[in-house]
Amino acid sequence: MKIFVDTAKIEEIRKVKEWGILDGVTTNPTLLSQTGKPWKEAALEILKEVPDKPVSLEVIATDFEGMVKEAKELAKMGDNVVVKIPFTYEGIKAVQALKAEGIKTNVTLVFSSLQALLAGKAGATYVSPFIGRVDDIAYNGMEVLEEIIQIYNLYDFETQIIAASIRHVDHVKNCALLGVDIATIPFKVIEQMFKHPLTDVGLKRFLEDAKKANITIL
Ligand code: E4P
Repeated sequence: MKIFVDTAKIEEIRKVKEWGILDGVTTNPTLLSQTGKPWKEAALEILKEVPDKPVSLEVIATDFEGMVKEAKELAKMGDNVVVKIPFTYEGIKAVQALKAEGIKTNVTLVFSSLQALLAGKAGATYVSPFIGRVDDIAYNGMEVLEEIIQIYNLYDFETQIIAASIRHVDHVKNCALLGVDIATIPFKVIEQMFKHPLTDVGLKRFLEDAKKANITIL
């Protein structure tokens, strides 16, 4: 499973990159607004930090022509830009037009397997089902994800599935067990994936015993 970081904050992206586990970045207007910087400055900074892995940047137009125009502008910012397009009638048309121009898309705001089916048929590069937001309305986000994986496997869709709106480590574990292509994970959840109290206790004991036994390696 590939790990994308779901943030526009450069310090967070840098850390995940330094850990050597970064496969890509996803942003949205909300995440860009949280940087406190003008959106373009924040986006260019991300593209400079991550020049060789997919970086999703979202359009804000809602009509077909507007989305296509904005997508072309965003795509000019870097070869690795993936344009996030909302799942709407106009969005699905835009995905097809952009595919014909060789521009990669990530269909966002997907909440059902039927929406994902249509995004796949339209030829989206990626589809992003929002697991956490489905859970928020007392439905099961993981069930939606499982259905999408099953449908995509049945019809050999090339569209890659990005499990999005991940809220906790259990979401990540279940994504991995389902074999989803990619999970886009908030920085604080990636940090939590590292943590286990037994690792801390175990390391403390090893270091104490090394001291007692005068073990020095260098
Ligand atoms: C990523 O592509 C989505 O925009 C993001 O995961 C949404 O997460 P949220 O539901 O926590 O805002």
